[in-house]
Amino acid sequence: MCGIVGIVGRHPVSQRLLDALKRLEYRGYDSAGVATISGGTLERCRAQGKLVNLEMRLKEQPLNGFIGIGHTRWATHGAPTERNAHPHIIDGIAVVHNGIIENFAELKAELEETGADFETSTDSEVVAHLLAKYRRDGMSGQEAMHEMLKRLRGAFSLAILFQDDPSTIMAARNGPPLVIGHGDGEMFLGSDPITLAPLTNEVTYLVDGDWAVVGKTDIRIFDSEGNAVTRPRCTSTASADRVTKGDYDHFMEKEIHEQPEVIARALARYVDIAGHRVAPLSTGMDFANVSSLVISACGTAYLAGLIGKYWFERYARLSVEIDVASEFRYRDIPLSPHAAALFISQSGETADTLASLRYCKGHGLKVGAVVNTSESTIAREADVIFPILAGPEIGVASTKAFTCQLAVLAALAVGAGRARGTITEEEERQLVMSLAEMPRIMTQVLRNIQPKIQLLSRELSEFPHVLYLGRGTSFPLAMEGALKLKEISYIHAEGYAAGELKHGPIALVDEKVPVIIIAPHDRFFEKTVSNMQEVAARGGLVILITDERGAASSKLETMHTIVLPNLEEIVAPIIFSLPLQLLAYHVAVFKGTDVDQPRNLAKSVTVE
Ligand code: G6P
Repeated sequence: MCGIVGIVGRHPVSQRLLDALKRLEYRGYDSAGVATISGGTLERCRAQGKLVNLEMRLKEQPLNGFIGIGHTRWATHGAPTERNAHPHIIDGIAVVHNGIIENFAELKAELEETGADFETSTDSEVVAHLLAKYRRDGMSGQEAMHEMLKRLRGAFSLAILFQDDPSTIMAARNGPPLVIGHGDGEMFLGSDPITLAPLTNEVTYLVDGDWAVVGKTDIRIFDSEGNAVTRPRCTSTASADRVTKGDYDHFMEKEIHEQPEVIARALARYVDIAGHRVAPLSTGMDFANVSSLVISACGTAYLAGLIGKYWFERYARLSVEIDVASEFRYRDIPLSPHAAALFISQSGETADTLASLRYCKGHGLKVGAVVNTSESTIAREADVIFPILAGPEIGVASTKAFTCQLAVLAALAVGAGRARGTITEEEERQLVMSLAEMPRIMTQVLRNIQPKIQLLSRELSEFPHVLYLGRGTSFPLAMEGALKLKEISYIHAEGYAAGELKHGPIALVDEKVPVIIIAPHDRFFEKTVSNMQEVAARGGLVILITDERGAASSKLETMHTIVLPNLEEIVAPIIFSLPLQLLAYHVAVFKGTDVDQPRNLAKSVTVE
């Protein structure tokens, strides 16, 4: 989604703004722009498409100035054109905005009546017009800011330059995060600490409703009532150093291959590998005494939650209510205060997930956050944080965060099982031993299956539709496999419970539709093989992903069979994620799509 940067500096800012925007690229965007104040005048440069276009424009037409703001725009209202790109400038006021102004139509109509002439079809432009109107009415920049914020409804973060005040950036937050960075005689603004990491690690987070006046050496922060407030300054652990592709062609490829290492790190936190026990969760949740569990999340994180549901039900005998957060938050679900809730989010900033968390907190549930970003809003608002320790994930399509989410959920489910007495000490020992083997098995799998996956990917890239089927935890995994493929290769793909084949998807099966069947040799294997036969009988192209036992016992002819080592049931969905990720990745590479920043998608979805 949109990203914001700002610098009130001692040195020229244009190049540094551009560099900071590059660190926001991973969030997804379709146009970009910067504005500076130089010699008392606002200067602006914008471009449609990728940052390289903006960079070229800036070479032709450099911007001067020691103060500036920048923006990557992910279009919500209005096409991703240069005209709609931010900053918007009206009467010497430049505005960049992340989020949605829900009442923009009403505000626009009102402003047009007083003579405002709108240049763009964005919701954001109303902010600049409102400020300009209040300035014309005789208000100072600060007064105009306070008045303007009272009029906005929706989720937004803002950075604003007033041409007549070349030493200050105004900022506001109501929803999407905004961080102020403290430099040496300079101040910075960014949508996340990674954006600011090479500039400073000393940051202050604005909280919802805050607005700030940011000068070179000082910040003044106000709440929505206009009262001066103090927000703590802290040291961010975000580092820009780690965010490089290394020897890989894409971040996604690198992140797939980082999994053995990051899973090992996550496991070290949640399990006592030597003692074969789940680590005592000192500040964790009291799973022994909860009546049920509620899980909510979006996208890939939701699918991790769905697999978690199988584990919590099986190992901890806890019934789990789970839904995508965009539905959950509005369903008016009757919730028991004795239930516990888990919210899963890589970024920790997804708007619907955050709203669902607040809904549960409001109903008195103890709330846990399974997050990758421990400094995120979801992490800060939860009662308990379960970090997944995946490290920065830059590829829009989630890979290592997904498997780390699964590893953490598996450990929590086993821990909950022990706490509730639904698994024995010996069962815990076996499960933990299986989890502990994952990094080794992942390394082996990543090494061994590549050639076969590349072969298959080349063939698959020619097909317009692909079906994925699975049973048990392989069902959410089928959905995740399909999601990955469609996200980055733009091939239409659907994941189904294999048992649902006869209730619809079988109508699509013919010799032009590859059907990927995820079938570890588990208690569902025979049934899944029957579904595979139903596909084959109709000429469907079967691609079987199984383990050695499964490959040995399936006699069916397939288009391809990918064989993984034999696995314990609890680790199968985590290891089986690897061929699905690699498949999506290589198909996208063959198709020549933008793997790390697929069209129209955003890494961090901070609006509804
Ligand atoms: C977007 C991303 C997905 C992610 C989802 C939820 O759709 O492209 O990769 O799974 O948001 O994001 P979160 O940060 O809450 O895990």
